[in-house]
Amino acid sequence: MASLSLSAVPTTTTTSLSSRSPLFSKSTHRSKVSCKSSADDHSENKLILPMQNVDRRNMLLGLGGLYGAANLTNIGSALAYPITAPENISNCVPADVGFNTEDAVRGSACCPPTTQTTAVPYVLPEVTELRVRPAADRLTPEYIAKYQLAIKRMKELPDEDPRSWKQQGKIHCAYCNGAYTQYMNGHPELKIQVHNNSLFFPFHRWYLYFYERILGSLIEDPTFGLPYWNWDNPKGMLLPEMLEAPYPHPDPESNRPPNPRYNPLFDPYRNVAHLPPAIIDLDRGNAGGDKDCVAQISENLTAVYDQMIADSAANPDAFFGTNPNPDDPKAIVAGSIESGVHSAVHVWVGNPRMTNNEDMGNFYSAGYDPAFYLLHSNVDRMWQIWNELDARNVNPSNDDWLNASFVFYDENQNLVRVYNRDCVDIERMGYTFEPSRLTWLQARSMPRNKASNIAAKSVGVVKKVEEIEFPVKLDQTVKVLVKRPATNRSADDKKKASEMLFLEEIKYNGEQFFQFDVLVNDVDDGIETTRVSSEFAGTFAQVPHGLGGGHMLMSSGTAFGLTQILEDLEAEGDEYVLVTLVPREGAEDATISNIKIKLVPLAN
Ligand code: C2O
Repeated sequence: MASLSLSAVPTTTTTSLSSRSPLFSKSTHRSKVSCKSSADDHSENKLILPMQNVDRRNMLLGLGGLYGAANLTNIGSALAYPITAPENISNCVPADVGFNTEDAVRGSACCPPTTQTTAVPYVLPEVTELRVRPAADRLTPEYIAKYQLAIKRMKELPDEDPRSWKQQGKIHCAYCNGAYTQYMNGHPELKIQVHNNSLFFPFHRWYLYFYERILGSLIEDPTFGLPYWNWDNPKGMLLPEMLEAPYPHPDPESNRPPNPRYNPLFDPYRNVAHLPPAIIDLDRGNAGGDKDCVAQISENLTAVYDQMIADSAANPDAFFGTNPNPDDPKAIVAGSIESGVHSAVHVWVGNPRMTNNEDMGNFYSAGYDPAFYLLHSNVDRMWQIWNELDARNVNPSNDDWLNASFVFYDENQNLVRVYNRDCVDIERMGYTFEPSRLTWLQARSMPRNKASNIAAKSVGVVKKVEEIEFPVKLDQTVKVLVKRPATNRSADDKKKASEMLFLEEIKYNGEQFFQFDVLVNDVDDGIETTRVSSEFAGTFAQVPHGLGGGHMLMSSGTAFGLTQILEDLEAEGDEYVLVTLVPREGAEDATISNIKIKLVPLAN
């Protein structure tokens, strides 16, 4: 296991965002935020953060070691089918990207070259030296030059080469936009979909694994590690500058004047309003960017805290999402990070002026922007960190997940089949991550109104869940009282089961960005409830992508942890919870099929 220096829990209390390169201060790009720069190095991330509850967090981390091997119960995984992708790649069909393909600047022909059609099982090579994936904001000029050279060579390969930039970009489209069919009992036409379910983490881990090896082999550096965009750290909360930097950086092979457009890492389809030094909004994606930068950083850190800890501690299904399950759509949950910060980063980078928010703002085109791989390198790191945060944070152990497989071309242009079961140990896979401080460990939210009794006061005014008609529409704010299965749970009860709010079978138009927020026991007092308040349970955000064509209906579910929220709000004795659903974007046609609170058994 890699070590991620979890012991270094920061306790500092001032704010700074450093200037990391000359570009940072010289940038002429428009930005709505203003953050003072300081000549700080990376030794310290200083943030104003709520300091109460630190004990509990330390306790959470400390307790982790006391638990033995996990005996894990999956929520809602009725499993009776393997997830096999794909038998023979010549069965691949042009992806149905769910919109007029003429508008798709990246094209919908997502199938890989068929120089080989049947994949051989991949054997992880012997590891002699670990590749270390560095933080993108900390790269030396030499490392940036090496990375740029590798991407340049990838872009120079002929399109039909499976290692080429274009073929690598297509992989995402193929596995996301319906190019492959898999067999499932009773569902012969089922398309492979690696999002909104438990395939999300392993698929992207394998995808980056080969991408990294291809880049390394193109520069004859078998230790090349793909950088990660550490958007979970205040230093990384802006687009990595190397992506837009003037090239040469330096480029020994060219005597052209420096220009970002020559930079192999440049992508013409990005949101120019979100170039450095704009600070990312990890909740809002494309609608973000108008906040004070200290507030924005605090909200971002709490978003990561919530998704890594509050919603998913000892709760693997909540972190990974559940297995695909066409027989029981109400049982499907998308993972916390996937439908949270991950979605926000995608749409924040994509260009809203493009018909389909290319590149990053739509799944069919995301793989064409180098930013995609940097984003997912950090998503992959989040998985690794989650594993190390708590001994109960274990990977799925059901056979359908372990035996699920994908097909890729490796760095030697061989078609190989890889299995989830072989991607659970990154050092065995030959890489690790350069450590970065996990400032968000400190970022637990704070209550706005303690002991408000708002749920009891709302009885008779707000409908109870059994009184509303499902599916409920999300075209306006929805308030509903949801009965809890138990009140005043003991510490022991909480260790055994997590109280979670489930929003089941959310149906939405997958052609556009879709997002709504979920508030718990929110008191309507005219003040906006933001991520840093305990009342903000979470958000559900979906990057546009398609399977259906035309007006494309997608369906998924989500779950948010209530245990910590109700403790902080001093509402543990309440019989009901007041749930407020706030539509944010693309929710006009969205519906939810059921809302309930369940006690989910935790790994022990
Ligand atoms: Cu396959 Cu970031 O998504």
